[in-house]
Amino acid sequence: NEEYFVLEGGDRMPRIGFGTWQATDEELEKAVESALEAGYRHIDAAPVYENEKALGRALKKWIGANPSRRKELFIVTKLPPGGNRPDLVQECFDASLRDLGLEYIDMYLIHTPFAFEHVPGDFHPKNPDGSMRVDHTTDLIAVWKAVLKLKESGKVRHVGVSNLNEEQLKRITSVAKPACLQVEVHLLCQQKELVATATKLGIPVVAYSPLGSKGLADALSAKTGREYPDLLQLPAVLRIAERHARTPAQVLLRHALQRGIAAIPKSTNPQRIKQNISLWDFALTEEEMAELSAMDRGEDGRICDFSFFIGIDKHPEFPFKK
Ligand code: A2P
Repeated sequence: NEEYFVLEGGDRMPRIGFGTWQATDEELEKAVESALEAGYRHIDAAPVYENEKALGRALKKWIGANPSRRKELFIVTKLPPGGNRPDLVQECFDASLRDLGLEYIDMYLIHTPFAFEHVPGDFHPKNPDGSMRVDHTTDLIAVWKAVLKLKESGKVRHVGVSNLNEEQLKRITSVAKPACLQVEVHLLCQQKELVATATKLGIPVVAYSPLGSKGLADALSAKTGREYPDLLQLPAVLRIAERHARTPAQVLLRHALQRGIAAIPKSTNPQRIKQNISLWDFALTEEEMAELSAMDRGEDGRICDFSFFIGIDKHPEFPFKK
């Protein structure tokens, strides 16, 4: 039950990171300030969240006049789906580095196994109606090789992947082992087989949407009409939380930690930010872990399967689940 994953070369990746999706610039700057104050050092960003510059400003403020503080941080960002072509990788990476105002990135991930059409100067292009144009020419292995090459510059310490299924993970690993796999994992979508495969391969798993991502669930509900249960209100979670005098969010995060994975909860509320990292002074019992483990709904519990992107079913990497 270590607080860190130890990566190749000895770098430490904190097992609780701070998620930054769905926060406006103003919210994010304040939230990151609170997060750093609360002790978060791992921050998860992405150009598709459209707030890397705001994150960069908050980091700059925290690092202040003491550049050696940068080394305390573990900053993750991602290759946007609009950049999933070998010839675009360097350009995308440079854009993130510039927007974050950093000299190097700790972990750079391929955000998705599929691609959106590239529009020059815009790595997350949208149609006028807000939809994305899917590019069906993705060569995942070629993109991975280009991402691996970034390491030669010394500007990225580790590279990894996100949103891959087991087959894709194995395919990528046959070229070079990713330093991390970031996927949707939470109580109702526990990804047991994928986590077991990654663990067997020695790849640390990072759970996104560990609290069930209400923002994402609401956005999808609006598109598809499907209802998503509120993980923070499930009776078993409430009962266990009460027993430990903790909050439901802390129970969900502890469940992830005790499964041996990392989690990147997002919050813009200072109290909840603090709560989500105050996890190292209590533990769920074996019985509680077993009860929570049995609540997995497998694929039915998944919130984000990307099938809402028009034409994505024709993509060579589809479906993205197992
Ligand atoms: P808020 O930002 O207002 O705190 P996820 O990390 O799974 O994507 O979930 C993020 C969602 O969960 C956000 O809506 C966030 O709202 C909410 N959230 C984050 N931390 C907590 C917490 N400790 N208790 C209740 N809700 C939380």
